[in-house]
Amino acid sequence: MKRGNLLIKNASQVVTCSGSRGKAGKEMQDIGVLTHAYIVVEDGVITCVKVGDVDDKPYVNRGFEVVDATGKCVLPGFVDSHTHLVFGGYRQEEYNWRLNGVSYMEIMRRGGGIANTVNATREASVEALVESGIRRLNTMASFGVTTAEGKSGYGLDLDTELKQLDVMRQLNKVHSLDIITTFLGPHAVPEAYKNQPDAFIDFMIDRVLPEVDKRGLAEFADIFCEKDVFSIVQSERFLKAANRLGFKLKIHADEIVRLGGAELAAELKATSADHLLAASDAGLAAMRDAGVVATLLPNTAFSLKTDYARARDMIDMGLIVALATDLNPGSCFTESIPLLIALATREMRMTIEEVITALTINGAAALERADQIGSIDIGKKADLVVHEFPSYAFLAYHIGVSTVEKVIKNGVIILDKAHEGAY
Ligand code: NIG
Ligand code: FE
Repeated sequence: MKRGNLLIKNASQVVTCSGSRGKAGKEMQDIGVLTHAYIVVEDGVITCVKVGDVDDKPYVNRGFEVVDATGKCVLPGFVDSHTHLVFGGYRQEEYNWRLNGVSYMEIMRRGGGIANTVNATREASVEALVESGIRRLNTMASFGVTTAEGKSGYGLDLDTELKQLDVMRQLNKVHSLDIITTFLGPHAVPEAYKNQPDAFIDFMIDRVLPEVDKRGLAEFADIFCEKDVFSIVQSERFLKAANRLGFKLKIHADEIVRLGGAELAAELKATSADHLLAASDAGLAAMRDAGVVATLLPNTAFSLKTDYARARDMIDMGLIVALATDLNPGSCFTESIPLLIALATREMRMTIEEVITALTINGAAALERADQIGSIDIGKKADLVVHEFPSYAFLAYHIGVSTVEKVIKNGVIILDKAHEGAY
């Protein structure tokens, strides 16, 4: 991993999102805007953030890269804390069926859905998965994402689950973005365990979890807790077993049917509960009291043609809300942050400030990394994005269009649209 020495000067705004833990409720409005400021990065780490002019000569003499951000704003890199970025094949026909009124669960019952991607992922070579993974990470980076979570769950057998996680380990080496890995073995009940979800959970606990643990392939464990997939009891059994091995917990909770996934996440002190479209008030209050991050996925609701999660209520109740793309080949095939911002501000009644918090420090909190990334603070990794407009307000106002100009990872410019000429 390269670490750069860099000076960003004359920024119209530096939006610090300052903090070292997830922000809850009203705190989400506070994004810490500095007007006309500069940032110094040494050896990939932020060492100075100040308002005012700076003399760049001493930095030039020491070989620093200098970025003049006149008329631009600088934000922390986005943290996309929920994706399924490694998979084989596509399911474009399902998107059309849904546009014509067929539901996600109906497609699953017909034998499509996750099972379809499982077959394609089992057949895919490691090389093909790495290659498509790189392309997706490049697209994420173009939207200003500097850290992404990635889940397994398209293997549902020992070898393919390990293969997916190993692909993410390889991607971490070849790509500048950081990938935080989650083991989502219980993502669906595979054909071999048809109508035997308990036996499949046993297999996951006895055979697969220990192997993932032994090889150090994942930091989090996750389960699709949903009616006709895995019950609350099965989810609790799997997550407790994972926790005993030291995995931190996530849960696909209360997405379609109110099963009580939010309550379970609170009881188990999961790091995050994700989706939550059908979560109860009691479940949300329990999550708030337990400090569980509510990760909302508006692009998925758009793609499934469902209502959106109750972000406004959750923030008003005092929860820590994060936003993520949920990139996957079925329910949500998009890496788009501009779409997410448009939906969160317009359909979920979040302010642009809350959205920025949800994509930065709260995304970092959803990955237990709020002390390392997600804000522009001294001592944090220099994962920074220069946006082409003078104010962060343009991130919502320039509807559906990426405002990203430069992406900086560990103090190194990894993407720069400023040098592109006319086509
Ligand atoms: O988070 N809900 C379950 N899992 C994914 C979808 C996976 C798929 O359809 O391939 C999600 O939306
Ligand atoms: Fe998901």
